[in-house]
Amino acid sequence: MDKKKLRSQEWFGREGKMGFIYRSWMRNQGIPDEGFDGRPVIGICNTWSELTPCNAHFRELAESVKKGVLEAGGFPLEFPVTSLGETLMRPTAMLFRNLASMDTEETIRANPLDGIVLLCGCDKTTPSTVMGAASVNLPTLVVSGGPMLNGKYHGEDIGSGTHVWKFSEDLRAGKMSPQEFSMAEACMSRSRGHCMTMGTASTMACMIEALGMTLPGGAAIPAPDSRRKVLAQQSGRRIVEMVHEDLKISQIITREAIENAIVINAAVGGSTNLIIHLTAIAGRVGVPLDLSDFDKIGSNIPMLVNLMPSGKYLMEDFYYAGGVPVVAKELGDLLHQNVLTVNGKTVRENTADASCYNREVIGTVSEPIQESAGIAVVKGNLAQHGAVIKPSAATKELMTHRGPAVVFKNIDDFHARVDDPDLNIEASSVMVLQNVGPKGYPGMAEVGNMPIPKKLLEQGVTDMVRISDGRMSGTAFGTVVLHVSPEAAIGGVLGLVQDGDMIELDVSQRKLHLEVSEEELAERRGHMVQINEHQARGYVKLYLDHVLQAHEGADMDFLVGKSGSYVPKDNH
Ligand code: FES
Repeated sequence: MDKKKLRSQEWFGREGKMGFIYRSWMRNQGIPDEGFDGRPVIGICNTWSELTPCNAHFRELAESVKKGVLEAGGFPLEFPVTSLGETLMRPTAMLFRNLASMDTEETIRANPLDGIVLLCGCDKTTPSTVMGAASVNLPTLVVSGGPMLNGKYHGEDIGSGTHVWKFSEDLRAGKMSPQEFSMAEACMSRSRGHCMTMGTASTMACMIEALGMTLPGGAAIPAPDSRRKVLAQQSGRRIVEMVHEDLKISQIITREAIENAIVINAAVGGSTNLIIHLTAIAGRVGVPLDLSDFDKIGSNIPMLVNLMPSGKYLMEDFYYAGGVPVVAKELGDLLHQNVLTVNGKTVRENTADASCYNREVIGTVSEPIQESAGIAVVKGNLAQHGAVIKPSAATKELMTHRGPAVVFKNIDDFHARVDDPDLNIEASSVMVLQNVGPKGYPGMAEVGNMPIPKKLLEQGVTDMVRISDGRMSGTAFGTVVLHVSPEAAIGGVLGLVQDGDMIELDVSQRKLHLEVSEEELAERRGHMVQINEHQARGYVKLYLDHVLQAHEGADMDFLVGKSGSYVPKDNH
């Protein structure tokens, strides 16, 4: 190896004043000469934060990565980036995904790093860091923090998020006492790790494995399982080799790898949030990806994994059953088997020895948990650029439905009126929520799975067609049409819907139609008042001025693409 070729030597290999500056202050950490001798410098990009409980164990995980880097002859340097905690951040963590990606990108590019290990877990910490790293394009490997152990309540397994929605409906319907509801809190989140349903965090972990960005089997190992630390240590060793091989992220995240991620997402019953994040990642690496690709590539894929919210089990069970390698092996030629992954081997090589240990949890293509379970993209005058629905989490009978709209102007209007006994709504109504999209909320919050009105819950109604320009939690379920584009806040037809308008949803025909004439819509548009209620400054102003629509991944227009890793100027 020609050590001079390593990027870090542009800093640490210098002579004279600049070499002094680049090395001297680093030495205050007790780094011997060998740290600067041309060995690969590995950045461990840590989204640890006590405000992101799903990632709160990451300092320990980083130590395992460091061990591996040192064993392989590298020089590890851990650094923090913006951490996005899904459960605490207001108005929604998604508002800050692009900010965290900018932090990751600029921190990597500005520093003497040759290879990167991304430590991520909670929903947005994965796409944000991968987006940022992709725009720099160094050798990069992901270690996710792993899911929590199964929740346990009254002797039964309960799942993150999925049971929050269920229990809160039970509470509202009087089927659960406030005391029981409160007790369930600790029962659900009883170990370190991220949501253990196939929510967005697990979906992102599976996506990363499907893209070939993590070592095989990396998605499902529970956070407290000692084998996750082993995976982190092995990842530390491997990233050093990747630097020597100059195996860059753009060689891993290719069009074929992205198609694999869409297929795997359908097979594991993954979140609709994958669409937004994978589209944004594709934009960073320069791979064209259209919303219709998700339907074309994924919608006919059978669901093989029986996990909540679409199924019965949880990530811990998925790991014991064999995890993503088994799914990839079962899918066979439905996947591009010859794509390269970060360990230098193909998907086929990585999964050849995978064995399934529980067919209740992972089915087969011939006997799937559910047929054709991938995400469907619906279009029509109500969503010219498309909207999405997750059939595996929806009620079959409602997938073809026609009903009168009950419109909520925004999330405050929804909260104020949803449980009003006088609300004119019935089970066949179509609930429409406006102004919760990328610009409208702002940040495209996970509010699309609107709770069913209390009076209908009490009548035993468990699902209704709901339409919005927002997202829904990956742990949620229901016949929910999401990501309507263009959104109401930029003049989309969704914002013109009025109470009583008939709406037709036909998922088999991929149709979402508002039965209002063009003339009437034009008339309504003439009276439409766009209220800019967000008095934004700082980052939020930047976001509002530049965020793209849902079908484009909700990245910011100036962040699409990559700038590479070269920085010509010294800092003094
Ligand atoms: Fe962090 Fe679900 S809240 S992964």
